[in-house]
Amino acid sequence: MLTKSAAKAFFLGGTALCGVAFLLLTMDTLKAMPERSNQEQMSEQVVRGHHIWNKNNCMGCHTLMGEGAYYAPELTKVVERRGEVYIDDLLRDPSRYTQDGRQMVKYDIFNPDEVGEEVSAGHRADIIAFLAWVGRIDTNGFPADPDMAVDTSRQPTPVTAAVLAEAPKQMGTCFGCHSVQGGGGTVGPALDGVSSRLDRDYLIKWISDPQSVKPGTTMPNLGIKGEDMDTIIQYLETL
Ligand code: HEC
Ligand code: HEC
Repeated sequence: MLTKSAAKAFFLGGTALCGVAFLLLTMDTLKAMPERSNQEQMSEQVVRGHHIWNKNNCMGCHTLMGEGAYYAPELTKVVERRGEVYIDDLLRDPSRYTQDGRQMVKYDIFNPDEVGEEVSAGHRADIIAFLAWVGRIDTNGFPADPDMAVDTSRQPTPVTAAVLAEAPKQMGTCFGCHSVQGGGGTVGPALDGVSSRLDRDYLIKWISDPQSVKPGTTMPNLGIKGEDMDTIIQYLETL
C-alpha cells in the first residue's frame, strides 16, 4: 500500500515520463514527415489538385489513406493501380464506367462540354497530379495488397459438354477465365447474357484490345480479329 505522498510522486513522475515520451515521438514523426511525404515534390499543380479534391467533396464517397467515406474505391494508390489514361477518361465521362452498379459523379469541372477542352483537361491533370503525389507517400504499406488467398467458392469447374458442343473452337482460351452456364474459369465474369449487357461494337473493341478500354485489366489481348472475331461475337450473342 502506497502512502499518500508516494502515490502523488508516482502519479507526477509517471505523467512526466509519459509526457516526455509523447513529445519525443511527436518530434520524431515531424522529422520523418517531409521525407515520407515527398514534400519537395509538392508542386503547384499538386496543390491545385488538392483544392479540387477538397472543394468537390471527393471524400464524401472515397477514402485517401483510409480516411473518408466507404462508398467508392480507396484512392491512395489509384494512379499506380489504374494509370493516368484510365483516370483521365473516367473523370471526363464516368458514364462509361461502373462498379457494382455505382457510378462516379460527372463533374462539370472535368467535362469538356461544360468548361471547354483546355480547362477541363487542366483540372483533370491537376487532380491526377495530386493523386499521384498521394500515391508516392510512404504509408508503411497501406493499403495492403489484395488478399490473394483462393476463394474456394470461386474454383474453376470444367465447361459442360453441352456448352462445349455449341461453342466454336475460338472460345477455347476464353473458358480458362470465363464460365458459361456455371462451367469454366472464374478469373473473369460469367459470359451468360453478356450481349444483353454490352453491345456489339463494345464487345469487339473490348476483345480486340482490352487494355485500351480498361488499362490494367487482367483480360489479355488474345490477338483475335477478322473471322474469328465474327465467330466469337455471334456465339456470345446466343448466350
Ligand atoms: C457520390 C459519390 C462520389 C463522389 C463524390 C466522387 N466519386 Fe469518384 N467514384 C465514385 C464511384 C462509385 C466510383 C467507382 C466507379 C467505377 O470504378 O467505375 C468512383 C471512381 C473513381 C475513380 C476510379 C477509382 C478506381 O479504382 O477505378 C477515381 C480516380 C475517382 N472516382 C476520383 C474522384 C474524384 C477526384 C472525386 C472528387 C472530385 C470523386 N471521385 C468524387 C463515386 C464518387
Ligand atoms: C486470363 C483471363 C482471361 C481470358 C483468357 C479471357 N478473359 Fe475476358 N475477361 C477477363 C477478366 C478478368 C474480365 C473482367 C475485366 C475487368 O473488369 O477488368 C474479362 C471481361 C470480359 C468481357 C466483359 C464481360 C462483362 O460482363 O463486362 C467479355 C465480353 C470477355 N471478357 C470476353 C472474353 C472472350 C471472348 C475471351 C476469349 C477470346 C476472353 N474474354 C478471354 C479475363 C479473361
